Amino acid sequence: MGMTTIREVAQKAGVSYATVSHVINNTRFVSEETRERVLSAMSELKYRPNAVAQSLRSGRTNTIGMILPDSSNPFFAEIGRQIEEEAFRKGYSIILCNMELQPEKEMLYVDVLINKQVDGIIFVATGDQTSLLQLLLDQGIPVILIDRDLPEMNIDTVITDNRLGGYLATRHLIDLGHRRIACITGPSSKITPSASRVVGYRQALEEAGLPYDKQIVCLGDFHPQSGMDIMEALLKRPNPPTAVFACNDLMALGCMRAAMYAGYRIPEDLSIVGFDDIELARFTNPPLTTVCQPKKEIGILATQKLVERIADKCISSLKVILPTSLIVRESSASVKQKP
Ligand code: RIB
Repeated sequence: MGMTTIREVAQKAGVSYATVSHVINNTRFVSEETRERVLSAMSELKYRPNAVAQSLRSGRTNTIGMILPDSSNPFFAEIGRQIEEEAFRKGYSIILCNMELQPEKEMLYVDVLINKQVDGIIFVATGDQTSLLQLLLDQGIPVILIDRDLPEMNIDTVITDNRLGGYLATRHLIDLGHRRIACITGPSSKITPSASRVVGYRQALEEAGLPYDKQIVCLGDFHPQSGMDIMEALLKRPNPPTAVFACNDLMALGCMRAAMYAGYRIPEDLSIVGFDDIELARFTNPPLTTVCQPKKEIGILATQKLVERIADKCISSLKVILPTSLIVRESSASVKQKP
């Protein structure tokens, strides 16, 4: 069986040749219903567009670069999944780049994305990468920032209200009667959202007239081991905290493990609240109280905006702060009254 042609796809889908071409090259709006008909006709007929010819013709590769710190973190994995699905719906494929801990890789990846002629990039900053981003913008490549803002750059950004999330987590524990609430922060660079979560933590303490005790605010790194190590040390203190706010769910999982090793029951002896609401948070034992970041909206909104920006570089810039919300499960409870 020879190569399937666009004409055969058009006949199968009951649309014009031009419509199939617009779906392939993203050169004109096609309704979701028509696009789905064309895409299913392509998969049934095993149609494979000639990618080189296609990109030469339209100057587009229908490819989006996605640069994340660490796709093994479920938060980024779940957002990356949403981006991939929305990009596919819009006729784009994804090139994934993991950036964390290997800053030297940055330029390598940027070269790959530029040479692959990606049509746009969704970017999570892991450091002060303004020069890297400016290089991409100078190449005329549209960029969307998610999760971490670089306010000095005029780039479309989709982030969440981290300060509110930190406040809600801490206020929840205060309302449960806790007075010694530890906080395990994320990496202390100015760009990670962790700093805003700690601002919210402090605001809830101040509002309740509780002291901010630096001794129980500890620097973590967003990975589970740091949560476990810090919780272990905190529980060995003469006056251990009765609750802990971990600035992401992975560190909260580490806290759970440390508490159980130390013979603490959760939440009877220690309340734990996380941040992100990754899918795993529902399945820990006990299920984790946490702050939900709207991962689906982040992924879809960022992808939609990027696709619009690819089609028209002059549209107005987007700066969105999506709300966070508290998800109360079973890892937090009223403070145990001292005997
Ligand atoms: O879990 C990874 C953390 O880093 C999340 O809280 C996310 O906001 C990112 O900044």
